[in-house]
Amino acid sequence: MTVHIGAAPGQIAETVLMPGDPYRAKWAAETFLDGAELVNEVRGMLGFTGTWKGNPVTIQGSGMGMPSLSIYANELISSYNAQTLIRIGSCGGMQPHVDIRDVIIAMSATTITSPSSGIFKEVNFAPTADWSLLRAAVTAAETKGGKTHVGGIYSSDVFYAERPDLDEQMVRHGILGVEMEAAELYTLAARHGRRALAVLTVSDHLQTGEALPSADRERTFGDMVEIALEAAFA
Ligand code: ADE
Repeated sequence: MTVHIGAAPGQIAETVLMPGDPYRAKWAAETFLDGAELVNEVRGMLGFTGTWKGNPVTIQGSGMGMPSLSIYANELISSYNAQTLIRIGSCGGMQPHVDIRDVIIAMSATTITSPSSGIFKEVNFAPTADWSLLRAAVTAAETKGGKTHVGGIYSSDVFYAERPDLDEQMVRHGILGVEMEAAELYTLAARHGRRALAVLTVSDHLQTGEALPSADRERTFGDMVEIALEAAFA
């Protein structure tokens, strides 16, 4: 047990999928895993372990934002020996060619700050996905038939942004979408020699103001979960 995860040693798999929303962890575990069992409910941040095609998998909520994800990812890595950590979540589209429901596989994650950025002092560290996971996720996505983009995303500290100039610079530099967790996940994985990736579904669009109706979310989010699972065990 750790401060924030109540699972016993051995109850967490080496492969962990991390949605922000604990109820999405429950839905994904019940939908995609065999024999899913609740292994964590501390603070309602649900985690489940089961198997996918015979492979042990944990799906653990991360909460929203990098400080919350950092707590869970640190404990999963340092106390439960997680080796492969894949964020599955939503993001806001930033480019005109990125549409609602598209999948974004994040090659890099730009930030202003993250819980880790203090240790780098004057250096702008470039949080980057694990190449083997990225490549496998792209291959898996190609078989799904949905529209997929691979490139840079922006990990923001705010959902309600007050800096249109900053969004403009992100768009101008080809950033595909905005979310709030991946940069810290990539940085922690780099520090501890683990594999990390973020597979995201575009749930809203900063330029058009469009947003995915909640009834549509499960089907599109399902593709993202399958891409993550296929990448983890490729
Ligand atoms: N996650 C989903 N949509 C987002 C947005 N517009 N900004 C930040 N995080 C998000």
